[in-house]
Amino acid sequence: MSLINEIDKNKIPKHVAIIMDGNGRWAKAKGKARLKGHQAGANSVKSSIEVCSELGIKFLTVYAFSTENWNRPKSEILGLMDLLVGTIDKELKEIKNNNIKISVIGDISKLDTFVQKKLKLAVEETKNNDALNFVVALNYSGRWDIINACKNIAQDCKANILDPEKIDENTFKSYLSTNDIPDPELLIRTSGEERISNFLLYQLAYSELYFTPRFWPDFSKEEFYKAIINYQNRERRFGKISEQLT
Ligand code: IPE
Ligand code: IPE
Ligand code: MG
Repeated sequence: MSLINEIDKNKIPKHVAIIMDGNGRWAKAKGKARLKGHQAGANSVKSSIEVCSELGIKFLTVYAFSTENWNRPKSEILGLMDLLVGTIDKELKEIKNNNIKISVIGDISKLDTFVQKKLKLAVEETKNNDALNFVVALNYSGRWDIINACKNIAQDCKANILDPEKIDENTFKSYLSTNDIPDPELLIRTSGEERISNFLLYQLAYSELYFTPRFWPDFSKEEFYKAIINYQNRERRFGKISEQLT
């Protein structure tokens, strides 16, 4: 029986963020090249999107390439970029049919132009869709996001557009790459690693963290349901005591 029946439909998170980790180890365990792991991982992205559509999760953010991932072998970086472009080519039609909006966070100006072009096309062609917002973090890091926000805030202060005295959490949020996206209630990381690896540092302040030993290519729909059920059994206190929550 599917775990979907155990999910409380009244407690669905609005935003789930995922650190998709373990593609390389998945491949290695099977005696395959790392790129095979990344290819298999693309199927897990697809099934995660399906879960979000089924459950009515409005935002799904996936960490696809970090600023630190530039330190990997060139061949792997190229393989990842090719996979990204190939996946958009293959899936864009269905994404459009399913009313899914694609967004990108991160500094994509550093990506090859053929990748940038494909991303811009995917964003442009889905911009009016409003079922699920699928957010891809590419050349992204949490520190980059915060520093970039600070730069733009400083510039606006200098130009007298912004009064430094008036900067509050709402102002700051509006300068982040996630300005129009609510903070994630749930962060999932696969592969057994239990760290944030420079993902959404500011936005994860109060997220529930869920770690699973499964490698990303093995993160099935049932695994996603399991994560949601686990999240629904957490008590989110936001600094209060249990008795104050009703
Ligand atoms: C995650 O899997 C995918 C990316 C970082 C692009 P990894 O490639 O990090 O897999 P492991 O951690 O080496 O197993
Ligand atoms: C985090 O995974 C980045 C992505 C999933 C894109 P990594 O595999 O790069 O993280 P570390 O190096 O283990 O922290
Ligand atoms: Mg990894």
